[in-house]
Amino acid sequence: MTSSGQPRIQWLGRWGFMLAATGSAVGLGNIWKFPYITGEYGGGAFVLVYLACIFAVGVPVMMTEISFGRRGRGSPIDAIRRVVNESGRSSAWSLIGWMAMLCGFMVLSFYVVVAGWSFSYLWKMLSGGLAAGSVDDIAAVFGANNANPVNLGFWSTLVTLLTMVIVGKGVQEGIEKSVSWMMPGLVLMLVLLIVFGVFSGGFGEAVSFLFSFNVGSLSSEGMLAALGHAFFTLSLASGAILTYGSYLPKEASIGRTTVSVAVADTVVALMAGLAIFPVIFANGMDPGEGPGLIFMSLPLAFQAMPLGTLFGILFFLMLSMAALTSSISMVEATVSWLCDNKGMSRQSASWGTGTILWLISTLAMLSFNLGADWTLAGKTVFDWLDYLTSRWMMPLGGLGMVVVAGFVLKSELFREELGLPPLAYALWLMMVRYVSPLGILIIFVDALGVYPVSFAAHWPWLLAMLVAMAVVGEALSPRLRQALTSD
Ligand code: PFF
Repeated sequence: MTSSGQPRIQWLGRWGFMLAATGSAVGLGNIWKFPYITGEYGGGAFVLVYLACIFAVGVPVMMTEISFGRRGRGSPIDAIRRVVNESGRSSAWSLIGWMAMLCGFMVLSFYVVVAGWSFSYLWKMLSGGLAAGSVDDIAAVFGANNANPVNLGFWSTLVTLLTMVIVGKGVQEGIEKSVSWMMPGLVLMLVLLIVFGVFSGGFGEAVSFLFSFNVGSLSSEGMLAALGHAFFTLSLASGAILTYGSYLPKEASIGRTTVSVAVADTVVALMAGLAIFPVIFANGMDPGEGPGLIFMSLPLAFQAMPLGTLFGILFFLMLSMAALTSSISMVEATVSWLCDNKGMSRQSASWGTGTILWLISTLAMLSFNLGADWTLAGKTVFDWLDYLTSRWMMPLGGLGMVVVAGFVLKSELFREELGLPPLAYALWLMMVRYVSPLGILIIFVDALGVYPVSFAAHWPWLLAMLVAMAVVGEALSPRLRQALTSD
């Protein structure tokens, strides 16, 4: 029930949540951010830590978030408060929900700028603005696109408007429909680019860059980036998944849904890597080019392949749609909170949120032109929004959630909510009590540099230590015995 006494709306159809959660997870994070940070942090070692973070931290956190949402039936703040109160614990834990809501909002304020890039490239493809050019010409197009604040502002404002229109329309109508055709379309475009990459040279180099693992190239900074990106790409600790979970019907399986979303998300990211790096290597570009990486490389592939303009149009169309289905999930928490607590209609909650968002996103947009010098510690507004959210707020929010789920709540609560068989539940419990929190803490401590030895260089020992702690901790835990002996 919401505070207005109405039963909370639920997803339409069996696939509603699945589609929406996949739509939220798969977005610019997979196709824009994953390749460029993989390039910056040196390839294979980063990819390996990222995959470990997805499955050892991301999946358990996602299951926890969905459970909070469905059990508490509300925005992150309300849902967490209700669930902890049900166990007789302090409402102060709902601060985690506040941080998540703020985080989703902050992410969106830089995300619309990148989504704006995608829309503007769609337009360039349609209008011939990316017609044949050298590596330098294509790079110059990206630079020119950013240099003009009116142009860039137009595209990010368009994304903000579209997001708010869809969110204002309501959960079922706005969100579910597009994902079912857009996602397969996007995958098809990536397959096409990968096939092109195989024949264009640079594919072998791309595969070895992405998958050959060299321990020496792991850095503490890279490990934190991988952890943060696991949260970012799965839309965790930003209110999105939790709020979507609050619309999930009782009978749906949280475990199965989570694993499917995480696998789909990971496959799309790896495919994006396999699509982009061959172009980078075949053209002698720098994989550590930074945020412009896909916008500087993919147009080169499209101009060289048969029917390239058509495929380019389809690609940027799908990417823009993928960005929108993620954007709408980031404001859903705030809008849902305003509707439930402040008695606002969906329409006014969306437009109110959109206005504030537009102001902050304008500052982020200006980081690429007029405000390029407004820096603090070398970071622009755009950089700070990205850095604070994915490196710190998301992992901290995730840590808070697993700690509450693993140690603060009554044990039967999530057992009931997750409905897992005893062994699977025991595994989830072990992950949320030991593996996920310790993994997050270790990466934090390492990144802060307060410990004299670099953890990154000693990861096999760390892994062994984590497993040992989890096993010993759980062997001593009456909760585990209870989980295994009752069904
Ligand atoms: N997961 C999205 C992506 O990979 O593009 C980004 C995102 C969506 C982050 C929703 C946070 C969020 F709440």
